[in-house]
Amino acid sequence: MEGKHIIVGVSAGIAAYKAIEVVSRLRKAGAEVKVVMTEHATHIATPLTFGEISGHPVAIDMWEEIHNWNVEHIALATWADAYIVVPATANVIGKINAGIADDMLTTTIMATPAPKFLCPAMNSEMYKNPIVQRNLESLRQLGYHIMEPASGWLACGVTGVGRLPEPEAIVSWLTQELQVIDGNGLLKDKTVLVTAGGTQEYIDPVRYIGNHSSGKMGYAIAAEAAKQGARTILVSAPTSLDVPQGVEYIPVDSAESMKAAVDSYYDNTDVVIMAAAVSDFRVANKAEQKIKKMDSMTLELVKNPDILQGLGERKKDQLLVGFAAETEHVLAYGEDKVKRKNLDMLVANDVSKSNAGFNVDTNEGYFVYPHGTSKVIPNMKKTELAAAIIKEVSTLLRNKDK
Ligand code: PMT
Repeated sequence: MEGKHIIVGVSAGIAAYKAIEVVSRLRKAGAEVKVVMTEHATHIATPLTFGEISGHPVAIDMWEEIHNWNVEHIALATWADAYIVVPATANVIGKINAGIADDMLTTTIMATPAPKFLCPAMNSEMYKNPIVQRNLESLRQLGYHIMEPASGWLACGVTGVGRLPEPEAIVSWLTQELQVIDGNGLLKDKTVLVTAGGTQEYIDPVRYIGNHSSGKMGYAIAAEAAKQGARTILVSAPTSLDVPQGVEYIPVDSAESMKAAVDSYYDNTDVVIMAAAVSDFRVANKAEQKIKKMDSMTLELVKNPDILQGLGERKKDQLLVGFAAETEHVLAYGEDKVKRKNLDMLVANDVSKSNAGFNVDTNEGYFVYPHGTSKVIPNMKKTELAAAIIKEVSTLLRNKDK
């Protein structure tokens, strides 16, 4: 943050008071900070406090110094290296997305070429409202960086999603996002191979044995690894997902084809993360032609190679991360797998839960380590879990290099 010019935009959420500490922490981290408030926000937190903490006058009114107004918002906008809105209300998010610029905050954020960050905070129902979600998605597509709000007790008296995260978390998120933008992501100069999707074991040319993996978990990890600066190779069984930006895509179908692809990259890889659901069996004698209808048939299955086990046996300097899809004794089975497969970390998920595992947007479970420790992963979006996994991987890599 040293020497960075940051604009903190404050809109009228009840959590506006937390923005004071955000400004203070940014300054302590070496940034120069200027604050822009909406007129409504001044009813919740005083400009005087923001002025004192930031060390600069607070910009609120477009018309205050009429002789200067036409340059003030442009001057501020071009001064900024980053523009963060804390808290971002449903109203201000809607206005920014609609291209409305009718006050100092919405005008300066529209005028700035700097990267833009929003920290939404509002009542749960407002946050979940499809209009707000549509606006956030549209802003995401336009390149805005959006922090997930926290869950917990809200000022309106209910408990749910929509809380402004703590100032420390906001500053740490902003710092990390800026590092990525500056080309200093957590996995800069590393090569990461991610597997995803469910393998397909062919019975004949038109039928296969498969599983419910959608690829969402693996694709989220690949997207995060690429975002954090890694050369990212995604070895994927068939899915209906778009390949994340900046990722090298290697399509496969069966466990054997996945193994061939993974093995061919392994020696030149720093990290392997096996999120794919790999079939443990394949059909012994795949039919060359479509099998004709009959009253009954018996399929003989033979064991597939365990790709991850093989990588564990050949491991040199690579960091190996496996997944375990379990329906019971999740932690105990995970602890066994992490050791048996010679892994550095394992993500054990409980796939019997309706909001975790296969083909849903959320996941939960444990990070399990070979030396007998583990961490609980509370239920969260797969995109958030992907970020947590990559953070964990970067810490393990750093510790390895020591
Ligand atoms: O794709 P989604 O819909 O988002 O769902 C995500 C997921 C549930 C598929 C994912 O979170 C997950 O748990 N992936 C691992 C599924 C699995 O195959 O688990 P397992 O416990 O059977 O295997 C343990 C590990 O060995 C896995 O890393 C697996 O990739 C690997 N393996 C398994 C069998 C095999 N023959 N070769 C392997 O390499």
